[in-house]
Amino acid sequence: MKILLDKINVPGINTFEVYRREGGYRAVEKALKTMTPDQVVEEVKTSGLRGRGGAGFPTGMKWSFIDKTSSNPHYLVCNADESEPGTFKDRYLMQNSPHSLIEGMIVSSFALEAKLSYIYVRGELKFIIKILEKAIAEAYANGFLGKNILGSGYDLDLYVQPGGGAYICGEETALLESLEGKRGNPRIKPPFPAVKGLWASPTVVNNVETIAATTWIVNNGGAEYAKIGIGRSTGTKLISACGHINNPGVYEIELGLPVKEFLYSNEYCGGIWKNHKLKAVVPGGSSVPILPEELFLKTAAGEDRLMSYESLSDGGFATGSMLGSGGFIVYDETACIVKNTWNFSRFYHHESCGQCSPCREGTGWMERVLHRIEFGKGRPEDIDLLVEVAKRIEGNTICPLGDAAAWPVAAAIRHFRHEFEYHIKHPEKVMDADHVYQPGMVMA
Ligand SMILES: Cc1cc2nc3c(=O)[nH]c(=O)nc-3n(C[C@H](O)[C@H](O)[C@H](O)COP(=O)(O)O)c2cc1C
Repeated sequence: MKILLDKINVPGINTFEVYRREGGYRAVEKALKTMTPDQVVEEVKTSGLRGRGGAGFPTGMKWSFIDKTSSNPHYLVCNADESEPGTFKDRYLMQNSPHSLIEGMIVSSFALEAKLSYIYVRGELKFIIKILEKAIAEAYANGFLGKNILGSGYDLDLYVQPGGGAYICGEETALLESLEGKRGNPRIKPPFPAVKGLWASPTVVNNVETIAATTWIVNNGGAEYAKIGIGRSTGTKLISACGHINNPGVYEIELGLPVKEFLYSNEYCGGIWKNHKLKAVVPGGSSVPILPEELFLKTAAGEDRLMSYESLSDGGFATGSMLGSGGFIVYDETACIVKNTWNFSRFYHHESCGQCSPCREGTGWMERVLHRIEFGKGRPEDIDLLVEVAKRIEGNTICPLGDAAAWPVAAAIRHFRHEFEYHIKHPEKVMDADHVYQPGMVMA
């Protein structure tokens, strides 16, 4: 079942002409001519669509929090900052089918009664910014943006804003600060953006994939969407798969697909490269806990693990992980978990905005301790020290970047403590920066 990528291989689908010929912009016609904004919100609620940016918050519910009593204008802001290591699905959609996002922006802006909307794109993706600007110009030229769209009386202007070049600018309130021209520091919540967002006005921030999915929901109805997927994980999800697999790429899956099928079937990842064995998977972007093979394939209760919000998190952090943003990173038996954890830590230390001390200081401490373990200078007490620092960051910061930095370290130690111990006990074996962890290395 494909919703977002069904036409992705049609030649010229990135142009207005072909997108329209293939049935594009029908949702705009339907919503603006036959529905009220509230009806669109209701369909999205019925669909069970959950935010695809990582947290999985129900989209229709988020939309219904918009403060209608405010006399300020409403805004829709699309979060296209996509900077999480391992996640590259939004960029793929925007690059190949920009009108899918623009159509979703129009329908969603209409639902939220926004007359001015923004797509905040990761600053480094200059080529995507150009693609979007061209597509927006086409939408204006064909009467789908601007004043009195399709004679409906609804006006909408849509702008692309290049991002500030920092991972933190993907956090929704930091994004709003950045959009207002300030340094991208997360805001204290409440108030939430639906009450006080962009320029202190009611604002919804949604991920690219979330917004693009609303088109199908308007065309086919929320109830039809809710039939796809499994349980509270309705619909499809874009997964960017990378690492030690035969077929890295972006795939659209129906939620509920067994992880085994996603990893081993030739339709998707095609199995582990070079006929190696699987060691571990980070299923939802660098922020989510890593799972060793056995816990990735089966839950602690022995059930087949599925690609869904609930199944991937089954067991909590003791034995589970998260679907997150769908950044699926696979490690074969030769991967060094310590090196990977250090590498992730380097990223979070670099990207911490510095506002909260636990994150500003703690990410640096974790990076330094992991660096010395990785390069043969670790001390026996370092492993517990890392666990302690991670604990003190988690839950103690204004935004979830602190959690995102702490979870991968805590999970790597939880499931691969023996590798950390090995590094500390055998520094001579890990001095080479390109060392691999050999299966069978004995920890004693
Ligand atoms: C440090 C950090 C970076 C984030 N980066 C992104 C991002 O690049 N794209 C995104 O959609 N959400 C990102 N998020 C989540 C957003 O804060 C927000 O939850 C999301 O945009 C809401 O959209 P959704 O409900 O459609 O998922 C990030 C969160 C944090 C804490």
